[in-house]
Amino acid sequence: MCGIVGYLGNEPVYEKVIKGLSRLEYRGYDSAGMAYIENGDLIVKKCKGKVVDLENVVGAVKPLSHIGIGHTRWATHGVPNDANAHPHCSGDGSIALIHNGIIENYATIKQELMNRGHVFLSDTDTEVLVHLIEDVRNAEGVSLFEAVRLALSEVHGAYAIVVIDKSNADQLIVAKKSSPLVIGIGAHDDFYIASDATPIIEYTKNVVYLNDDEVARVDRKTGLTIVNIDNQSQTPYIQALELRLEAIEKGGYDSFMLKEIHEQPRSIEDSIRGRVNLKTGLIKMSGIDEHEERWKTAQRILIVACGTSWHAGLVAEYLLEDFARIPVEVEYASEFRYRNPIIYPTDIVIAISQSGETADTLAAVELAKERGALIFGVCNVVGSSISRATHCGAYTHAGPEIGVASTKAFTAQVVVLYQIALSVAQKRGVISNERTTRLMAELGSLPLKVEQVLKTNALTESIAAIYQHCSNALYLGRGYSFPVALEGALKLKEISYIHAEGYPAAEMKHGPIALIDENMPVIVIATEGASYEKVVSNIQEVKARKGQIIAIVTEGDKTVKGMADHVIEIPRTDDSLVPIVSVIPLQLFSYHVAIMRGCNVDQPRNLAKSVTVE
Ligand code: G6P
Repeated sequence: MCGIVGYLGNEPVYEKVIKGLSRLEYRGYDSAGMAYIENGDLIVKKCKGKVVDLENVVGAVKPLSHIGIGHTRWATHGVPNDANAHPHCSGDGSIALIHNGIIENYATIKQELMNRGHVFLSDTDTEVLVHLIEDVRNAEGVSLFEAVRLALSEVHGAYAIVVIDKSNADQLIVAKKSSPLVIGIGAHDDFYIASDATPIIEYTKNVVYLNDDEVARVDRKTGLTIVNIDNQSQTPYIQALELRLEAIEKGGYDSFMLKEIHEQPRSIEDSIRGRVNLKTGLIKMSGIDEHEERWKTAQRILIVACGTSWHAGLVAEYLLEDFARIPVEVEYASEFRYRNPIIYPTDIVIAISQSGETADTLAAVELAKERGALIFGVCNVVGSSISRATHCGAYTHAGPEIGVASTKAFTAQVVVLYQIALSVAQKRGVISNERTTRLMAELGSLPLKVEQVLKTNALTESIAAIYQHCSNALYLGRGYSFPVALEGALKLKEISYIHAEGYPAAEMKHGPIALIDENMPVIVIATEGASYEKVVSNIQEVKARKGQIIAIVTEGDKTVKGMADHVIEIPRTDDSLVPIVSVIPLQLFSYHVAIMRGCNVDQPRNLAKSVTVE
């Protein structure tokens, strides 16, 4: 959370910073700000609100400076207001700093600095850091580069920072620990700094991902210099970006969310491509093949994740237990890491994360690694922190997901986890060839089926129009559809601010049934399969209390059609693959309800896409 950008080059900085911040706005949009050097002055412009508000603050006369930094904030310390917006400045106004992360011991440092006469203008931990750097620089008489390194060695917490100094319009100082940061190296001695590669891709493909505890200086004359926190020189490892510019633009859709929902046939296909071989009947996943013995002998699999990724983990629990017959536990990463969990060296831990940056998931990975487990990552962002911290893994090839509410990443995660479950089942010899071949063929037909279900968009929109004013909604599903009920409810509350709960259908009678009346929409996933008849009974229980049923059914269904208020048909597929198809109308339903309520679907209030704080 929080997006940071920096630029040092030969062109005006303003457009680069504004464009970069717009690309990173998914990371937080409580406030925006920038700092640049012009005619020897360090100028800071910032305000509560979005990047567009910052543009208004800057006004018609754009800065011409060729060096600057910018920030878009998701508030942690201090309410979203102008004073708490980044950049923050040193007491003498000579240094400005932007920060993504949390300085955990800021209160102690702040007190010490106040005792030495420092005066603070904001409630943020970040302002403490820039004052600390100023204090160290003055006390030790060292360069800014060195002062940043020394100051950071006193700091506990997470940070990605960029620092600019009024007296030197030729350099920026950058540092990272547990928050993401990438440096792009342009062809003309220009440098681009950002929280992820999306602001950089347009200018250069050559990037260096800074490692934790590294401090870097980008300088017009000396180029890129990196040291670690102990002042040992580090050799920059330059990588080529594979991201395409079109992938991070709206491509004619009104919102990223709608675009991403419609991209699912392709993202599902991309997540299968090259892994499933229908001729040999085998699934190829290097992260499994290279550790075959571990997968064969594992007594248990732990899955750690947050948010939507946790829901994908729940689907994976059913898949791995059903196909591979290994006991699975699915944990919220935030709970897992703080309760002294039992982790055996024979365990395999699967960490699922779209961004690959979620702080709790990353910390859970580190913990499980220390205890000797094999860590397998399922990430979407190539080169992200979690993908680098794991022993092995499989990427979801969903492409950049920019809408804060996750859609195509979820289906891609389930597709990848599906292949993991099948591959492990094969290696353990617990699944018949006939079943694998049938399921692989079904998997391969998903892109077409998802294409077909996207055609229910108009119907879903008309149902959304009826329920757009509701205050509560209940989502029910059973077996493989239970995690989908949770995911459907999460989507609705995230973007439309309607209270919604997902429940296992049979559990409804142990509490939620008390909430049902004629105003309560109950969205039920009632597709054909093992628990169809039981779910039909649950629908009757809802109808007996006058609840409004919106049912997701298998095409051609007659029974539910006769009872439900609305039905959305989805193509027939194996029970185990239903989540990938049935979640689509739920995504569309939330989208339309949110739009009808005037909500910003790409940037829902209070949320951020990449949660890099605990
Ligand atoms: C945030 C996002 C969710 C996401 C969750 C986990 O809360 O808004 O959409 O599911 O983080 O993110 P990850 O990147 O680890 O999948």
